Amino acid sequence: MSQVTRVACGIDIGGSGIKGALVDLETGEFAGERVRIDTPQHSTPEAVAEVCGQIIEKLGVEPDVPVGITFPAPIVHGTVRFMANLDKSWVGLNVNELMTQALGRRSYALNDADAAGLAEVAYGAAKGVGGTVIVTTLGTGIGSAVIVDGTLVPNTELGHLEIDGHDAETRASSGQKTLQDLSWKKWAKRLQRYYSHVEMLFSPDLFVVGGGVSKKHEKFLPLLELHTEIVPAALLNTAGIVGAAWQASRIE
Ligand code: BGC
Repeated sequence: MSQVTRVACGIDIGGSGIKGALVDLETGEFAGERVRIDTPQHSTPEAVAEVCGQIIEKLGVEPDVPVGITFPAPIVHGTVRFMANLDKSWVGLNVNELMTQALGRRSYALNDADAAGLAEVAYGAAKGVGGTVIVTTLGTGIGSAVIVDGTLVPNTELGHLEIDGHDAETRASSGQKTLQDLSWKKWAKRLQRYYSHVEMLFSPDLFVVGGGVSKKHEKFLPLLELHTEIVPAALLNTAGIVGAAWQASRIE
């Protein structure tokens, strides 16, 4: 393990935007402005790597500052296993190598929900919580991070559980709420089915709900009836960037 640095850079690659910031690792807060560039419509590795380079440049990231990058996909030892919501040409690619080369500096890739989970453990709603915590991110898809006594079990894909014959995220993501113009009540019914199922499988001690829509948690969390406590993420939509930076600072 390398020594923990005070500032690291986090970049969060999403279906609609790529966002980056320098993060103060003491506080988990941004150490400056956040930069956002639209995700290229044809979201190939080359196009996305170029945008990441522009973000690094705009932020003026020094060469020795670690860079963590989140992907909306499982990243197993640097390699993309499958890709639900970006160009399929990412599959099989080693993104650590691609980004390290494209950015001319050591870069570390991880799953976006795992990054959010790590940030919530380090600075947010899951800090100091023992037992099993499941962090879910509700966005274009559904991401998951399973944390046991503070340690992440990486690359869980609980958004793709098959429930009632459907890939869960195609029913219950907040992207689907928008697409199908669902009321909070109708969407909450779908979330109820989803979280009850995950609860039955894992018996977690806490659910943390992140993603942009968690800003409006009071509209849907109170409608859910679960045995498990369910709380909004503390870092809201900064969690991906913060978690990526945090993790990159800990890799040799
Ligand atoms: C992907 C996950 C990702 C989630 C949220 C899912 O479609 O398979 O890896 O964490 O979306 O972006």
